[in-house]
Amino acid sequence: MNLQNFPKISLGFFPTPLVELSRLSKALEGPTIFMKRDDQTGLALGGNKTRKLEYILGDAIAQGCDSIITAGASQSNHCRQTAAAAAKLGLECHLVLGGEQPDKPSGNLLLDNLFGCHIHWAGEHRKGEDIPEIYEQLKATNKRPYIVPYGGSNELGALAFIEASRELDEQSKDQSFTHVVFASSSGGTQAGLMLGKKMFGKSYNLVGINIDKDETAKIPFDQNILSLVNRTASLVGLSPDFSEQELILNSNYVGEGYGVIGELENEAISLTARTEGVLLDPVYTGRAMGGLIHMIRSGEIDKNDRVLFWHTGGTPALFA
Ligand SMILES: Cc1ncc(COP(=O)(O)O)c(C=O)c1O
Repeated sequence: MNLQNFPKISLGFFPTPLVELSRLSKALEGPTIFMKRDDQTGLALGGNKTRKLEYILGDAIAQGCDSIITAGASQSNHCRQTAAAAAKLGLECHLVLGGEQPDKPSGNLLLDNLFGCHIHWAGEHRKGEDIPEIYEQLKATNKRPYIVPYGGSNELGALAFIEASRELDEQSKDQSFTHVVFASSSGGTQAGLMLGKKMFGKSYNLVGINIDKDETAKIPFDQNILSLVNRTASLVGLSPDFSEQELILNSNYVGEGYGVIGELENEAISLTARTEGVLLDPVYTGRAMGGLIHMIRSGEIDKNDRVLFWHTGGTPALFA
């Protein structure tokens, strides 16, 4: 498979580091734990979206677009990274954010403002329902807008995580992992990692920790991921025959729902900070690490395992 057929622009610093978390392993009396530091991708405080945006905005530029629109929650890491990438590329950026404008911006929202993007407050519509209207408005003013999908999760976003799997494979030739654990929310990361796992012949359990309890979704999240995996497989010339058996989406840790922080996240964030000096975020990686810690303590993952935790970023939300 040749990813070079897809236009791509450079936005980050790769490969991201792969580090061992020996003090965290010790504190948990648990397995060997490695961390893939995608919080260090370099674009505006990093995160997994940098990888996706390299392909998605590569496509936007190839199409001659001059403005981009995307959507997310008010503390969206995806929106912050998109706004930063747009600033770097000289594109006009429109963010459609769920909720109401707060009196004082903080965390990711503070950074969105710094990058000079246009923010449209969308109330209950946190998943981009208002994008078509803004798209038409921009077109009416002779702009050439491009829609970056929610969470950067389309086939181009997933491609980036096939490439990320290759990066991990090259970095870890002398290691093998029994589990790769990460936060899954709009599904592009998981779809790409599933494809990468197959392409590079890996046998680890790829465990997406579901972050969002969205009970209003028309299509269940696991079906969405499978559909994206198979569409992306077709795009890169693989057989689109992934089935539910190949998808591990652990929804045991969604708690009270998206962004509602509880003991699970708080403990994971402070334990990782105190043992490793590594910052997690409250919404995604804190929850995913909380899930991993629980799986270790409950014996689902045991001392003899070798776990890779994929740090997908999000730390600016700690300041929200
Ligand atoms: C920090 C962080 N981790 C993980 C994810 C989930 O990635 P995906 O949307 O590809 O499932 C997101 C998505 O917004 C994120 O911001």
